[in-house]
Amino acid sequence: MNVLVTRRLPSSVLAKLEAVADVDLYSGETAIPDAELRARAANADAILCLLTDRIDRGVIDAAPRLRIVANVAVGYNNIDVAYARSRGVVVTNTPDVLTESVADFTWSMILAITRRISEGERLVRSGLWKGWSLDQMLGSELRGKQLGLIGVGRIGRAVALRAPAFGMHVVYASRRTIDDLPGAEPTSIDRLLNTSDVVSLHVPLTDDTRHLIDKRALTRMKRSAYLINTSRGPVVDEEALAWALQHHLLAGAALDVYEKEPQIHPDLLPLDNVLLLPHIASATTETRTAMADLAVDNALAVLSGRPPLTPVP
Ligand code: DGY
Repeated sequence: MNVLVTRRLPSSVLAKLEAVADVDLYSGETAIPDAELRARAANADAILCLLTDRIDRGVIDAAPRLRIVANVAVGYNNIDVAYARSRGVVVTNTPDVLTESVADFTWSMILAITRRISEGERLVRSGLWKGWSLDQMLGSELRGKQLGLIGVGRIGRAVALRAPAFGMHVVYASRRTIDDLPGAEPTSIDRLLNTSDVVSLHVPLTDDTRHLIDKRALTRMKRSAYLINTSRGPVVDEEALAWALQHHLLAGAALDVYEKEPQIHPDLLPLDNVLLLPHIASATTETRTAMADLAVDNALAVLSGRPPLTPVP
């Protein structure tokens, strides 16, 4: 069995794979170039890839032996799932294992942007801080405010469950009504945008959610509200967001994901009312090891004729 692994994995996880398969490991610091991915896919029975690898028709066609694409991520918009399926290739992702770390990180972003933590740190490091004053760098409190969640899958729910600790009331916009979120109210996206103090995005990237947060959506938000994105960059129209932040149509935004990672829209970079992070919401040693481990288990299951543990829906 030949397994193409497109980036270094934790050594314990790699060892588990190497014990039963021939591993072709691309160990570059950045994403494997498209041409190299296609060339190396030719012998692969399985591909273990990251969200930075585009597994399109070209890659799938270049891999006649391919049986599974195991993504080391819960999002799988980097993979042409429909085409893979039509070729009998299983696609798996890594749900559940990253839910808690991403939910924790979402709250750290909410706290950081509403309490101006990154801005404060920049001030201290710049040497321009003149000392304590009553009205310096005032932020916004969470207690008694409304958190609006767009998307309440595993991660959105885990974010919602932490809200009572901060005294926030939760509303959510979702295609389904959720029974196990006591106190959280379903609403429409427009109403959520109109009334929420913090809007947090937890939808997958699909044709329906691309630029879900566009100029129109941003102008519906309260001027005192904050936007948080840990889902996928293209869910937000970055140019429209930069415009809205420049004109103070909302109080701030915290982004962990971008439309064209690792590029950041240049109009966002000079703004103080946006927190910019490098796609690290799931980046704990525990979670990233568990993600890699689950991807390996998926690959090994399919290669040995068993059903995958976590096929994409
Ligand atoms: C994912 O898994 O989809 C995240 O974006 C990275 O953890």
